[in-house]
Amino acid sequence: MSAFAPWTTERAEAVVTQCASRPGPVLLTLQALQLEFGYVHPDAVPLVARSLNVSRAEVHGVLTYYHDLRTSPAPAHSVRICVAEACQSVGSRDLMHRAESELGVSVGERSSDTIDLEAVYCLGNCALGPAALVDGQLLGRLSPPQMSEVIAALRSETA
Ligand code: FES
Repeated sequence: MSAFAPWTTERAEAVVTQCASRPGPVLLTLQALQLEFGYVHPDAVPLVARSLNVSRAEVHGVLTYYHDLRTSPAPAHSVRICVAEACQSVGSRDLMHRAESELGVSVGERSSDTIDLEAVYCLGNCALGPAALVDGQLLGRLSPPQMSEVIAALRSETA
């Protein structure tokens, strides 16, 4: 079961109203909507623009500029592989290639079995690289075969 509320215009209006009086309201409001619903529904753009008295283009610009803001519901699982220098030096590129191969996608694409694959830059686990964050759990010293096992386990959870 999702930890997020299902999208409703009424609930979104309440979130937007709460954020309207704070500084930096567009980004803050979009972040609050994502926190509430797990993503920012396209209908939120005119809602936020009207509420904050800014153009739709401005809201859309902020929404598309920040990579962490989603415009569709988050998939069931996420795999974030560190590709920063320390992890690269101990094989994180091989890990990424294995994950891409297993999922049949490139980084940033969504696989058919709803596992998000993302490259990140340092997870604070440099001494135990290559590191990855799998559904929020930090893993270290991962090998490509272990990455295959991780993905197989996520798939079996989803099935
Ligand atoms: S460089 Fe990968 S965790 Fe820091």
